[in-house]
Amino acid sequence: MGKTIIVSNRLPLQINITENNELEVTPSVGGLATGLKSFHQEGDSIWIGWTGIAEEDIPDALEKEVIQEVKNQDCIPVSLTSDEIEKFYYGFSNRTIWPLFHYFMEFTEFDPDHWEAYKAVNKKYAEAVIERLDDDDVVWVHDYQLLLLPEYIRRKKPNVTIGFFNHIPFPSSEVFRTLPWREEVLRGMLGADLIGFHTYDYERHFLRSVNRILRYDINFNSVNIGNRIVRSDSFPMGIDYKKFHKAAKEHKDQPRSENSDIQKKLDYHKYVTRNTKLILSIDRLDYTKGIANRIRAFGYFLEKYPEYQEKVRLIMLAVPSRTNVPQYQLLKKEIDELVGRINGKFATINWTPIWYFYRAMPFENLIDLYASSDVALITPTRDGMNLVAKEYIATRTDQTGVLILSEMAGAAHELNEALIINPNNFEQIVDTMKMALEMPEEEQIRRNKILQKRLKRYNVERWASDFMKSLRETKDSRKAFKSI
Ligand code: ADP
Ligand code: G6P
Repeated sequence: MGKTIIVSNRLPLQINITENNELEVTPSVGGLATGLKSFHQEGDSIWIGWTGIAEEDIPDALEKEVIQEVKNQDCIPVSLTSDEIEKFYYGFSNRTIWPLFHYFMEFTEFDPDHWEAYKAVNKKYAEAVIERLDDDDVVWVHDYQLLLLPEYIRRKKPNVTIGFFNHIPFPSSEVFRTLPWREEVLRGMLGADLIGFHTYDYERHFLRSVNRILRYDINFNSVNIGNRIVRSDSFPMGIDYKKFHKAAKEHKDQPRSENSDIQKKLDYHKYVTRNTKLILSIDRLDYTKGIANRIRAFGYFLEKYPEYQEKVRLIMLAVPSRTNVPQYQLLKKEIDELVGRINGKFATINWTPIWYFYRAMPFENLIDLYASSDVALITPTRDGMNLVAKEYIATRTDQTGVLILSEMAGAAHELNEALIINPNNFEQIVDTMKMALEMPEEEQIRRNKILQKRLKRYNVERWASDFMKSLRETKDSRKAFKSI
């Protein structure tokens, strides 16, 4: 077998041009980039994707430098114009597929112009792949921005091995079938030999859609598309457990050189108000993450259990995301207001109930946050997986800490020892918060021990190797099938 070509819309690095016309390179945020990065760093792979900046925004003088930065990480850039970004990325990817696949029908737009751009950009990606493709290479396509890519590659290279992994939920066929371009999308995915999902439910929804819409026969998890058999399976994505655990260990008692405001707050918490318990909330600012309801629930908690006023604090980190999409702008406003309202209502001279940060931050701060928090409160209304939940558990080196996790996150299927809640049930959330804050240490340790063992074993490396193994087997069985 030759090299692996990873293809995703977003590369693991993000290029920005500063006000002084200098190049700034930061790691990308989001489960796909953080998870796959570890696989990419270890193997013989190249990664094709977008750098997060519009073609027109890169000054000519910096073009070479951008290419070099990308090359340094064994990546190959696909450049997108601002028009493509508007219609393909903000448009079809994030105003059609993203809301539809997360059951936000009311946010879903069906715009033919966006669909045309989506097809055109998927073709652009196909050309970028084909240009670098040797016959024995394996192509591994990722996520909802590139649903058509497997078929586009297959048309030009019928025998190549292609895997596809969907990092977000696949909705029930009742929801999926509302998409005007449903046949094309399914055929696009079926260009792959193996299609992976985080959970069995997503896989069943996909197979049901294929059966209902395309009328293909399904045999267990195989789709007979006439000239080929396509397989699907579930592969719950893990994290780089060692990296998080080790970083938390090393980080524990080291003095911090960096003096960011997050660090100052954490130091204040650790050294001044150490009796106040810390509840952590971290996500990209996205309506699927249930952030606004989480803040409301925290306000309600302070009301229902007033003995916790001045005894607990919510530290909330929201990373800016897809800021050109109106729903994200509205959500930002709603969150700002809610935080203001709750802090205004409950704050005292010595205590602010919510510390809120709207920014990305360096890895070491992230580790410090995970390691310093008594409880992690993760309440998405829908989430393909949610790696933050897994990262929190991995950083608990003394095995204390309580994870409260929404049953709507893919991760809930594996993390049964967490406190699982329904994100729409306010009473349950606030009572679970109380339970978490009062859970005896032995009980915390008992639960986390099991969780850590599982996460350590089913890490991101295992996820990738399971997928690749299964892809090879699918391909081999196809060869055998052909030679009969
Ligand atoms: P999603 O993929 O929807 O963003 P996940 O929870 O699966 O959600 O993945 C988020 C990833 O982004 C995690 O790996 C997490 O470590 C990273 N991340 C989240 N917040 C920050 C932040 N403020 N700074 C840097 N990385 C972050
Ligand atoms: C989720 C998606 C990824 C995406 C990430 C960040 O994890 O599954 O495909 O890259 O969010 O979103 P963005 O729009 O910034 O790429």
